[in-house]
Parts: sequence; structure tokens; C-alpha cells
Amino acid sequence: MSPIIFLPFEKEIEPDGDLTLLQLARKVGVPLEAPCGGKRICGKCKVIVGRSNRPLPPPSEREQDLLGKLVQKGYRLACDTILTHGASVVIPEESRTGRQVILTSDTRHPYPVRLRPHVTRCHVEVPAPAINAVLADRERLLLALKEAYGIRSPEMDLFVLRQLPQALRSDPKGVTATLRDGKEIIDLRAGREERLYGVAFDVGTTTVVAFLMDMVSGEKRAVMPAMNPQIALGDDVITRISFCQERPDGLDKLRSEIVACLNGLVAEATAQAGIDPGRIMEATVVGNTAMHHLLAGLDPRYLSMAPYPPVLQAGQTLKARDLGLHIGTSAYVHLLPLKAGFVGSDTIACILATGLHKRKAPALLIDLGTNGEIVFGNRDRILCCSTAAGPAFEGGHIRWGMRAAAGAIERVRIDPDTLNVEWETIDHEKPSGLCGSGIISAAAEMIRSGIILSRGNMNGSLQTPRLREGEDGWEFVLVWGSETATGQDIVLTQRDVAELQMAKSAVYAGASVLIEKYGTASFSRIFLAGACGNYVDPRDACVIDLFPGCLNAKVVGVGNAAGHGACLALLDRNKSKEAERIARNAEYVELAAANRFQELFVSSMCFTSAGDFEDDF
Ligand code: FES
Repeated sequence: MSPIIFLPFEKEIEPDGDLTLLQLARKVGVPLEAPCGGKRICGKCKVIVGRSNRPLPPPSEREQDLLGKLVQKGYRLACDTILTHGASVVIPEESRTGRQVILTSDTRHPYPVRLRPHVTRCHVEVPAPAINAVLADRERLLLALKEAYGIRSPEMDLFVLRQLPQALRSDPKGVTATLRDGKEIIDLRAGREERLYGVAFDVGTTTVVAFLMDMVSGEKRAVMPAMNPQIALGDDVITRISFCQERPDGLDKLRSEIVACLNGLVAEATAQAGIDPGRIMEATVVGNTAMHHLLAGLDPRYLSMAPYPPVLQAGQTLKARDLGLHIGTSAYVHLLPLKAGFVGSDTIACILATGLHKRKAPALLIDLGTNGEIVFGNRDRILCCSTAAGPAFEGGHIRWGMRAAAGAIERVRIDPDTLNVEWETIDHEKPSGLCGSGIISAAAEMIRSGIILSRGNMNGSLQTPRLREGEDGWEFVLVWGSETATGQDIVLTQRDVAELQMAKSAVYAGASVLIEKYGTASFSRIFLAGACGNYVDPRDACVIDLFPGCLNAKVVGVGNAAGHGACLALLDRNKSKEAERIARNAEYVELAAANRFQELFVSSMCFTSAGDFEDDF
């Protein structure tokens, strides 16, 4: 039987009457967008079936709905098309997953780090055994550590014990032992060894970042980003949880993907810094609750069922080798604590990094994504929640939405008099779509220019060729096809605006519920974390009423605050204890059970603030 060939990647696979083109593409590693995970919602998995050995099945109603006139041009939804015969399937430019811009920077508000890691180096000279009073190698080493450092009876990892006889006898200058919290010897090397390294991981649903840290100087030695390879098995956490439920080997498969990714990052980071990975003696990991469970191999299925309980909340300290991490053989990895099914250790790390839990004045912290995690509070009380904002902030459900990859429009400016549009794209490539910050920027500029009115409807009375009626009602042309990478006009449609209104209302209402529960309307700082949050212009965010408090609070992008929090916990053991306290004391608010949420959600749909603060920035 002739194969299905994915072009331009030249990847071939036998047709399978049970699998959609999307599933086949994933099997052979074709980079095909599927933000809704193949649920036939987003319309992003567009492909063109070219040469075909037999007539194609007719497009489904869903395909006709989502693709509109593109159906006549041969476009199909990969997640809704099954072929039982050979064909060539073209993945058009706009359907290819680009390499996402990954936020590796830490917070722009670094709090001083005190170097108090869990691991320390101790150099000792161990006397040779005496003929008249033979003392075993281990006992002589323990005696030397007690005399030199006052360390009493530490445990010794079996792998260290196996190295002990050689280490004691190969250098007359003694040995260097690495101890964890003074309780266990996790490494032993002949001679004097000063170097000590650690690695912090921020494991996101889409991206993963490793920070290789020098635990002696506190310096970053390398920062290494990667796409989370689990994307090939499901774009979002719910799809990955379903994958675990549907396949007996699902959890193992997802776990081995992420472990391989972390090991790859360690290999790249250590190669760049010229360090032996075996010298990494400690690791920390933060991530959302689903990523945490998938890495630890914990059954995630109940995270998708109300009331969404995680398997555990407390931080876990495990041998890195038990997780399959290729760092020091006896090193430990610490998984920071979680709060709830949808408030993970990444949120706890953001709080740690921004110092929100130590502030006198309350502050609002928002991590924008498919699930917006929101925190409000100060040193007296912290409230947190997760709001289902939907994928709009990551480009999902938006006609020309895309991930933050090269060619994504990230900033838009519209001349209010001529309605001419200027834009900036990531890596200055020809525009091929809008990423989250581009969508917010475009909507904010359209509000400022009077194209979008306060209720979200487009002003059809404007005289400009850019405003026209399309398949989804009014649409505004941001970039003409002659200037785009795909040759098609990039527009923001009335339906896109409605999608954005839903997303921003969810965030606004979630934040307002926390603020009301806390019992104050006064706060002076708003921290925006995460990739989308970092690139969003605070003025644009305020124009679309993304969160309350714009008029009085200073909005600060805090970069990859979760990654910075993971580094803090790595370098300072007191910070990992602080993280435990934050997770224990923070109050989780379940928005589904908060009566006010629905009310606020509906009432915050409009764009009412546009004129209030234009000059205040
Ligand atoms: S993946 Fe096909 S419509 Fe979303």
C-alpha cells in the first residue's frame, strides 16, 4: 500500500483506518499545530491533501464550519480526517509549530540570594589504618569529619561506599566529601575539590528551562531551554491526562519523554559550561501540578475530575537516580510543594521569587496562560486560584493566533486618524499570525482607535477598506496578504474579540474574587509572570481590562519568576522551607464554588477603562 507522505518534511507512514492525519503526523514527529489537542475546536491543524490515490471522504460539518472557504481550496482538519489510502499531505506554513520563544530570563526584581544550599563540601585528611588498632575505612572517615567539622554519624549512600576505599588511598591530600544537610554523604572525591553545581528546572506544559548553577558562587553557568516533548502526545494538560487514561503505558511514555528532555538539557548545559554532569549534586523542579505528577510518575487522572485533588501537596526530596536524572549518582532532586490541582509549584515559586509573601502592602500576581494562576496577598494572608482563561492568550481559538514563535506579531500600533497599522514580529520575520501579546496589543489599539467599542463590537460605520464583513462577522485587516508569510490577510475577527473577552473576563473576575475575599481594594503592585505576561505591554493589558487595579497599581513584568524561584530554592535551603510555608498557608479559592465569580465574569466582559488612564503611563 502506498504511504501517506507529509510535505515538506518528507515523512512517510502507512495509512491506518483508525488514526486521523493528526495522530499519524504525531507518530512520525511532524510539527503540526493542534492547540485544542485534536478536539476539533481550534481549527489550527489545517493541512492540504494534495495527490491522493482515491477520492477523499467529504469534509465534515465541523471542517466546513472551522475552515469556511478554505475547504474549496483543498484544506482539511488533520484531526478530523482519516485516510485509508496513500496521499501527499502538505503542512502549510501557518499550521507548523515553530520553535516557541522560551522565557529564560529571571525576574527583573531579584531578591538577594543567600548561599545556604542543602549540599556542602567538606575536605578532610583521613589517617591510614594502624596495624595495632584497625579501624574500617568508613569509620575513619566519619571520625575525621567529626573532628574537623563536628558532623556526627552521617549516612553514606551505597554508591559512595563503593568508591570509598579507592578515594581514601589515591591522594595524600585527603578526600572531599559532599554532604546533604550534614546528614548523608552523597559524593566522595580524592583530593581537595571546591566545585559544586546544582540545576533548577522549570517544567511548563509547552516549554522547559534548565538553569545550571554554581553553588559556590551563586552564579548561573548556563541556561538551556527546550520545548516540552510531551506536546507530541497532547498539547495541553487535559489531553495528556486523557492520554494516561486511554493507554496503559501512557503515564510511562509521558514520564520518559520529560525525563529524556531534562537529561538532554543537563547534557547541553554542562557541555556549554565545560562541567561534568556527575558533579551536579542537587536539583530542584517547579511546574504545574500535572507536569509535577507526570515527572514523578504519579497518576494524574483525578486532576481532571472535580474537585481536582492532587496526589500530594508537600515538597518531595527524591534520589535523582530514582527519577532517572543523569546527574551525580547519589544526588537528590527536590520537587517544590504544590497547592492544588491547578495551582502548582510554579505558582509557589513565583510567590517566592517576587517576595509577595513578605510584602507589607498586598500585591496581585498573575501568571497568564490557558489556566491563569492568580495570587493576591501579602505577609499576613495569601489567596490563590486558577481560572480557566482558555487558550486565547497562547493564540488558541483565535483565527490567526499562533504560539510565540518567529513570525508571530507581538506588537501592533494603529494610527487613530488613518487607521494604518504598524506591527512588530518575533525575530523580525514576515508575519504569519498573532501570539498572545500581539492579540492583546491589537485589541488594545483597536479600542484606542475606536474600531472596537466598549461592548466589544466592531464599529461598522468606519470608512476604511481594512474593516470588512467576513465569515465570522466584522473583521479588521491588520496585515495585507502581500506582506504576510502565507500570502493571506491577517485579521482580527469579531469572534476573536469575543474569545479575548471571555479570557480576560475570567482573569479579571478571578482576581476580583481574591481581592474581595481579602477585603481590600487598595494595592500598589501587579506582577505579571510567564511568557505572555512578560511580553504584554502593561498599557495594553489595562486598556482591555485584563485585571483590576490598573489605575493605582504599578504593573511589573517579572519574567520567568517560576524559574527564578526554583533557583532560589536550589541555592538557599531556607527558601525551600519558605516555599513549604507558602504552600501550607496560602488559601486556595475554588472559583467554581465562588458565587461572585459568575457575576463578576459577566460584568467584566466590556472594555470600559480605555479612556481612564491613557496619559497615566
Ligand atoms: S487540533 Fe484540529 S481543530 Fe484543534
